[in-house]
Amino acid sequence: MSDDGTRIASPRSAASRRGFLRGTLAGGLAAVGAAEALAQDKPAAAAVVPKSNPRNLPPRVANWSKGLGDGVAANPYGKPVKFESNVVRRDVEWLTASRESSVNFTPLYALDGIITPNGLCFERHHGGVAVVNPVDYRLMLHGLVDKPLIFTLDDIMRFPRYNHIHFLECAANSGMEWRGAQLNGCQFTHGMVHNVMYTGIRLRDVLNEAGLKPNAKWLLVEGGDSAGMNRSLPLEKALDDCLLAFKMNGEALRGEQGYPVRLVVPGWEGNLWVKWIRRIEVGDKPWLAREETSKYTDLMADGRSRRFTFVMDAKSVVTNPSPEAPLTHKGRNIISGLAWSGRGTITRVDVTLDGGRNWQEARIDGPVLGKSLTRFYVDFDWQGQELMVQSRAYDSTGYVQPTKEELRKVRGVNSIYHNNGIQTWLVRSSGETENVEIG
Ligand code: MTE
Ligand code: CO
Repeated sequence: MSDDGTRIASPRSAASRRGFLRGTLAGGLAAVGAAEALAQDKPAAAAVVPKSNPRNLPPRVANWSKGLGDGVAANPYGKPVKFESNVVRRDVEWLTASRESSVNFTPLYALDGIITPNGLCFERHHGGVAVVNPVDYRLMLHGLVDKPLIFTLDDIMRFPRYNHIHFLECAANSGMEWRGAQLNGCQFTHGMVHNVMYTGIRLRDVLNEAGLKPNAKWLLVEGGDSAGMNRSLPLEKALDDCLLAFKMNGEALRGEQGYPVRLVVPGWEGNLWVKWIRRIEVGDKPWLAREETSKYTDLMADGRSRRFTFVMDAKSVVTNPSPEAPLTHKGRNIISGLAWSGRGTITRVDVTLDGGRNWQEARIDGPVLGKSLTRFYVDFDWQGQELMVQSRAYDSTGYVQPTKEELRKVRGVNSIYHNNGIQTWLVRSSGETENVEIG
């Protein structure tokens, strides 16, 4: 308990390793009633419930109205109010061997609209956060170019500038769920995604400055972190909509997000979005680096791997209700969620409350942008009945988000990447909500 009665449950105290693990339910859960057989796990991160003080309620004058508050600049860099201190990135302790090569997750269940605040963007590092002195920052461009170049940060900031809002989703988002419902929290099943406005320059303009040789077809893009993380990027994509970004949501990139410059590869898997980018080599074929051979490829049922799955297909998730955001009130309620597609815009989202028997079209609100998160709502009346809540996204190519069973038919269960299957939340009559699967 904190001084104002706020209960903060950290994932470490709220759920042990065992608490995160769920049995494989695929195929075993035919009817809503069968869900009763599920083990009861606490959600991975409980919501904050501030304690009420009757002395603050009408007709009395509330405490905060009785005296002066803090003056300006009490917080030179503003932070969320203390009542929101539970809204943080969280990690799953046992998921990775070290903190330097690890991941944490965006608290999707606590956010609204489409923009992820900078301090809540999930992080994924292979060699920890590089602390790059902007004055010593250099970007080297060489290979099949007429004129090899080295750019400073100032050089980069003098190219024509563009602002674009895009989601970044790690290929491993929802990756734990291939073999069935595993992690009991929307933050953990879907939180390897964020959506910010990038300010940057077009990769195309930088490449044209160096001049491309006629046989140029691929780029090797490499990070300046200790992992020197590198990937092969087709030239076609580089010339299309990639950015070298130096701002996110108006301010400098956060160190965790690749300060001072990161690559933005709209709609494509997060691994390609190289942070602390230090080198671009132009070549005529892919390099087949570690992160595109042994990692980030889809291992199929027959043991073969798919080569290059760059685009993130349409996906959606209901963020409320979810395990961390149970229903607490009968009567008027809002179902809310996010949908996105690496191939274009979201054209429609359907929501079901009964595990897919009946679907209704959700109301999309806020900007609908290409390769960006899109917000949807369903306004509904809850009478305390058990619900099986799912959402299904449609994109501008006509693609419809598949069920997990449909995905498994094609892909098997060996993969940990590119899982865009439909998520199911079981809402019990108490309002408690958990991650389940319908067979
Ligand atoms: N770039 C470098 N240099 N080093 C890294 O470890 N991780 C990649 C990518 N770019 C990584 C990197 C992966 S796997 C993902 S999902 C995204 O960055 C994560 O970006 P974020 O930390 O801003 O969320
Ligand atoms: Co990733």
